[in-house]
Amino acid sequence: MDKQKLIINGGRKTEGEISVHGAKNAALPLLAATVLIKDGECIIHNCPRLTDVDAALRILSHIGVRCRRDGSTVISNAAAVANFEIPVSMMREMRSSIVFLGAVLGRAGRCRMSYPGGCELGPRPIDLHLSALRSMGAVIEESHGFLDCTAPKGLFGSNISLSFPSVGATENIMLAAVTAEGVTEIHNAAKEPEICDLSAFLVSCGAEISGAGTDTVLIRGGKKLHGCEYSVMPDRIATVTYLCCAAVTGGELVLTGADISHIGAVIPVFRQMGCRVYSFGNDSIYINAPQSLRAPHTVRTMPYPGFPTDAQAPLMAVCTVADGTTVFVENIFDNRYRHVSELLRMGAQIKTEGRVAVVQGVRQLSAAELVSPDLRGGASLVIAALAAEGTSTIGGTAHIDRGYESIENALRSVGADIKRI
Ligand code: EPZ
Repeated sequence: MDKQKLIINGGRKTEGEISVHGAKNAALPLLAATVLIKDGECIIHNCPRLTDVDAALRILSHIGVRCRRDGSTVISNAAAVANFEIPVSMMREMRSSIVFLGAVLGRAGRCRMSYPGGCELGPRPIDLHLSALRSMGAVIEESHGFLDCTAPKGLFGSNISLSFPSVGATENIMLAAVTAEGVTEIHNAAKEPEICDLSAFLVSCGAEISGAGTDTVLIRGGKKLHGCEYSVMPDRIATVTYLCCAAVTGGELVLTGADISHIGAVIPVFRQMGCRVYSFGNDSIYINAPQSLRAPHTVRTMPYPGFPTDAQAPLMAVCTVADGTTVFVENIFDNRYRHVSELLRMGAQIKTEGRVAVVQGVRQLSAAELVSPDLRGGASLVIAALAAEGTSTIGGTAHIDRGYESIENALRSVGADIKRI
């Protein structure tokens, strides 16, 4: 376990400008997609410097893709993909490595990997991924925690209806479908902006995809794919996280390189709390927070375009010091309140019952020794510590570094008293 800690001395306003990094949850499937490109290089700009992205680059290298990072640009050349096995150690590093399944299967006709490791958000089943790929001709043996996948007759288009609009399953199907023979239809597809980013990337590589962002995505497979140059969309959850830092400290922030259209369900919540939030230019968001916040109406996490589950923990930290009571309903994951016990140590008043969490705002939190339970839970603790009286320490920074580029530098640049030891 990493020994690093963040030390945060609370009570200072967050004021200034932060440039939002590229989206982790778009970069990961995009990098997996480069496996499919036999001729030409993929040049991917705005690729965030995150440990999850580093893990994806290690997986690419392991299977024979030549990839290198040049600043925030990653260049990937998959002319010589040789290997189709992803070792357990690499699978354990992050749960989203499952998205390599569709790409490797599509490219090599085989893929062997262990069940994905990673997130602590409760069981992370992959049944929707596997049944969809099987309907496309994949033969998948599951034994001793390993998945052994082949496509003896190749992959062919299929008419798939997802029982839940799973983001990862939608991405895996798209990646397998671009090399499959015929048309694949995905009904009840995930509509997240990251799906649109993956579709736009694949189309710029020569794929034929329509409907991304709606609940029906059509992929006509078998097109010859070639390299391309692409820029990853901004990280909408990092955007919300930094808005929360301003809200909880009564601060004022400009976020550049952000896209307000990706967080349509979150903006009204900040306005309910009394913040002024608006976009200007085509990629900047401004927020000005009042000294004291009103508790927002009930927050229910939903598939996109509903309130994003990844923003639940960061927003809860803000609600712990708002006037009034906020009810959260976490509809996406079974175990996504692990940050609550840590917030209670800071004097927050929160009661959870299954999917519901009731947050009674208090006047002030007090600093404490904290440990990040997972990625967005860790962000929640950072937000709370910015507003707490005194100096908090936050361990488990490895979780936070999976999804935020050097969070201490970003926050220090806008006035926070934060350092990493
Ligand atoms: C993606 O995870 C994101 N990760 C998550 O972000 C995000 O919270 C989630 O989508 C929902 O928006 C990446 O994109 C790398 P799902 P994913 O498949 O694809 C159930 C973060 O903090 N399910 O849409 O795993 C599943 O158990 C991470 O950046 C099945 O039952 O999400 C969950 O309850 C956390 N069977 C729900 O669907 C399946 O086969 C949503 O999962 C697949 C999923």
